[in-house]
Amino acid sequence: MKKVPSGIAPVIQIQKQTSNSLYTQIYEGYRKAIVDGSLRTGQRVPSTRVLALELGISRMPVLNAYAQLLAEGYFESRVGSGTVVSKSLPQRTVQAEPAAARSRGLQREGRQVSKRCLNALSAQGFYRSRGLGPFNVSQIGFDSFPLPLWNSLVTRHARNGGAKSFDYGDPMGLKELRERIAEYLRIARGVRCDAGQIMMVSGSQQGLEITSRVLLDPGDQVWMEEPGYRFARSVFACSGCVVVPVRVDAEGLNVAAGAKKCGRARAVLVTPSHQYPLGVTMSASRRLQLLDWAESNGSWIIEDDYDSEYRYEGMPVTSLQGLDRNSRVVYIGTFSKVLFPALRLGYVVIPEDLVEWFLAARFAVDIAPATFLQAVLADFIGEGHFARHIRRMRLLYAERRNALIENLHDQFGSLVEMTGTEAGMHLSVLLNGISDREISVRGARDNLWLAPLSSCYLGKTARQGFILGFGSTSVKEMPTAVHKLQTLVRSKGAT
Ligand SMILES: Cc1ncc(COP(=O)(O)O)c(C=O)c1O
Repeated sequence: MKKVPSGIAPVIQIQKQTSNSLYTQIYEGYRKAIVDGSLRTGQRVPSTRVLALELGISRMPVLNAYAQLLAEGYFESRVGSGTVVSKSLPQRTVQAEPAAARSRGLQREGRQVSKRCLNALSAQGFYRSRGLGPFNVSQIGFDSFPLPLWNSLVTRHARNGGAKSFDYGDPMGLKELRERIAEYLRIARGVRCDAGQIMMVSGSQQGLEITSRVLLDPGDQVWMEEPGYRFARSVFACSGCVVVPVRVDAEGLNVAAGAKKCGRARAVLVTPSHQYPLGVTMSASRRLQLLDWAESNGSWIIEDDYDSEYRYEGMPVTSLQGLDRNSRVVYIGTFSKVLFPALRLGYVVIPEDLVEWFLAARFAVDIAPATFLQAVLADFIGEGHFARHIRRMRLLYAERRNALIENLHDQFGSLVEMTGTEAGMHLSVLLNGISDREISVRGARDNLWLAPLSSCYLGKTARQGFILGFGSTSVKEMPTAVHKLQTLVRSKGAT
């Protein structure tokens, strides 16, 4: 007969020196766990033998307690499927309450969470549920991902795992992978680095979190692009920093405007290769101005280079870090766009003299990054699949981008205002006379994932529109998706 896996025991504190019998203590322990919702209906409980072993007692009191719980209907037992918490018990409503609602509830009742966390919640702004489908900004072209090849590398590493692969890895990340990334960054992005400066992280978000722990103190002011990447705002809010929005124009972040507003900011976060969300490329003169400002002020520049592998027009743009002669730039990259976001792998290129500080901060965060997928990725890059993948996907995304632009022109008229079409896997459309948040909520009901442009603004003068991802929508599906968008927007009287 198939072996039934054992369930997990609730915390039952057995006291041997009390007048309460062992049987009663086990019975009460289970009853309490069921009534307060920590054990849910249908959940498997351990066998009597396993529980007796875990509690270090004989099996008899456990058998008696289980018999009582079965008799009273708390447990049910079926041949072949073990003993479970009875499915006919009413599910307690507290379990279904979403985490966000619960945290707001806690706040209302005066239970104290940190001010930073409260700020982080509001910094995230409007939150739209995410789903898979047209225009989702984070979704990649999964239909063209080389899955069989990836799986064969995963299997190779799973089969060959020795003692080393079970231990903590290098806190900087797997050396072979860092060497390959350093080589790629030097050639393709003009980044000045070697493997010793690269720290592997679980995506840019963690890279930013560790960077802000190293460089920033609570109360420090940080420039952020306006509009900008709102998930980065949460990191600064959690670090207790004050975000200073600095407007973006056709040349990227307006350095003079930032200097006028808050000349002594401690750091700035920029996306110079493909500004998020407007998509402009930062001009050479702005780059030099920013480097000068950072140098003269002793400030840090955090460069988020999240999707520049896919560029369709104009000259390739190199990194800001490559222009820096004073080691003022911390460069953050990610595999979320170029491969896929579930991988949760990114990297930070650290100025050489700061590596020790980053290591100190990393120990506080997670000691060392997970090793398995780093090894898979090192082979993926080392065996030439990465470069091939970028070439293939660039063609595919270019087709999808062209189809989106054409359909937007066809259905909205040639005057539709678009920005950021030169690179990446999204573009933005600017629309007047609508509420982008309201349309986004309505779109989600129809499986259309519209990121509202206004949520990227911190100040009051937000522009309305949408950030439209095109990575996952095929050329064939594009007309229908754009038509749905057009219907939604027109029904709200946009111009
Ligand atoms: C501006 C920006 N930075 C970074 C990222 C990637 O974040 P992560 O590497 O944490 O997945 C994204 C993803 O959408 C982004 O839009």
